[in-house]
Amino acid sequence: MTTFTKLDDHETPLISVHPSRRISKINPNIYAGFTEHMGRCIYGGIYDPGNPLSDEKGFRKDVLEALKGLNIPVVRYPGGNFCATYHWLDGIGPKNQRPARPELAWLGTETNQFGTDEFMQWCEALGTEPYLCFNFGTGTLDEALGWVEYCNGTGNTYYANLRRKNGREEPYNVKYWALGNECWGPWQVEQMTKEAYAHKAIQWAKALKLLDPTLILILCGQDGTASWDYYTLNQCLVPAHSALSTSSVPLIDMHSIHLYTSSSSHLLNVTAPLAAERAIEITSALIDLARVVNKVPPEQLRPTICFDEWNVWDPIRAEGSLGAEENYTLSDALAVAVWLNVFVRKSKDVSMACIAQTVNVISPLMTTPEGITKQTTWWPLWLFSRYMRGWTVASHVSCGTYEGETSPKWIRSAKDTPWLDVSATVGDDGFVNVAVVNIHDSRDLESHVEGAQGEVAVFTVTAGDLSVTNLNGKEEVAIQESTWTGSGQYVFPRHSLTLLRWKAE
Ligand code: AHR
Repeated sequence: MTTFTKLDDHETPLISVHPSRRISKINPNIYAGFTEHMGRCIYGGIYDPGNPLSDEKGFRKDVLEALKGLNIPVVRYPGGNFCATYHWLDGIGPKNQRPARPELAWLGTETNQFGTDEFMQWCEALGTEPYLCFNFGTGTLDEALGWVEYCNGTGNTYYANLRRKNGREEPYNVKYWALGNECWGPWQVEQMTKEAYAHKAIQWAKALKLLDPTLILILCGQDGTASWDYYTLNQCLVPAHSALSTSSVPLIDMHSIHLYTSSSSHLLNVTAPLAAERAIEITSALIDLARVVNKVPPEQLRPTICFDEWNVWDPIRAEGSLGAEENYTLSDALAVAVWLNVFVRKSKDVSMACIAQTVNVISPLMTTPEGITKQTTWWPLWLFSRYMRGWTVASHVSCGTYEGETSPKWIRSAKDTPWLDVSATVGDDGFVNVAVVNIHDSRDLESHVEGAQGEVAVFTVTAGDLSVTNLNGKEEVAIQESTWTGSGQYVFPRHSLTLLRWKAE
């Protein structure tokens, strides 16, 4: 949690950090990923058989190596919008017998050469957990139950045996399952009303939990502020179903929300993720409201928020059906840093956040047949994933604010937009980590940092110009490392991310 006092621009900013005031544990799953059958994410991204850079399974080794550096705990699959017409049975068994199908989300052909078993093997190679999304468009509940049985079944049953026949004896133990994706969206095959969705979601959840009460089921929300969120939470956060063996097993474990932000104007770009912060606060209140109204017993676990698509994305400049390959600038990298500050500040409510997506499609990591490029946005992600773990701790910022227009406009009346956007953690290793984004486009901000002590390690992400990218053959934006004595004032450079790290007392 970071509190804020507004100063005049001529006053000296102050950041105070209180590592002994732990606010909430940070779920490592806020650093989750997302791989969809879209553009070059799977084919030509993580899976590229025949390429000398790939292993015998067709997995790009350079991609795996790079992603290992991000320590990604969970990866969502196979979509996204792709899910709405995906039949998982098409993607298992001998590859030469798998059907190619027209793909209706991104208007291509799905060859099904990469499917459930390949994804599970890729997750094992990466050292991450799978998170699967059901087909709520053309799919059936029978298919969904079969998919769970194929992945997790241990008995002598049809789909568990089919998995064994396909070469995998042990279950994959997939915990996380989404009840559809963006079912409210007009672009969706089988777009639903909130009434139809809530009815279907609760019926599917009951059957799925009867099959396996340990599944973590994720309700399809909108952006956290929509009447869809209000209605579906009210209908679906109900006392545990009497058919389920234990009264503390809820039907719904998490509520998913999505948001993409972007602007060609820097200050709108970097303040836009604050809409996500307010959306998290609103969703959290809607969860409580639904539980109050439905008289859910307090011992039944309270659902958390799964922000399973977030990023900087302008779908006009990087169109989905053309593969959504964004060229990220320094400004975008700083927006991603503000996004990550939001998830750290809101660690009490957000138990998973998946950057959309992991490779090539609106991604920090790009491939060509010859190698990989780490975009500007890779570096904030890497720094946060490496250091901003453990506990969110109390911090307070006093500084001036940006007072111009925001996108969306409602941020202006709902949130402060300080020049210094801050979150702070203390790790299990006893180190304090403070992430400071100076969003100002032209002013370095010399600030007091109260609480800093001993030798402070400093990691800085910046460049001379907000519009630079890493796609011109040069890594213009990366991490510069230095140290600071921890006394006096620290100068946070204009348009930069700085991570300060010191050992707590
Ligand atoms: O991540 C790209 C797309 O954005 C996803 O398929 C969809 O869920 C969202 O609209």
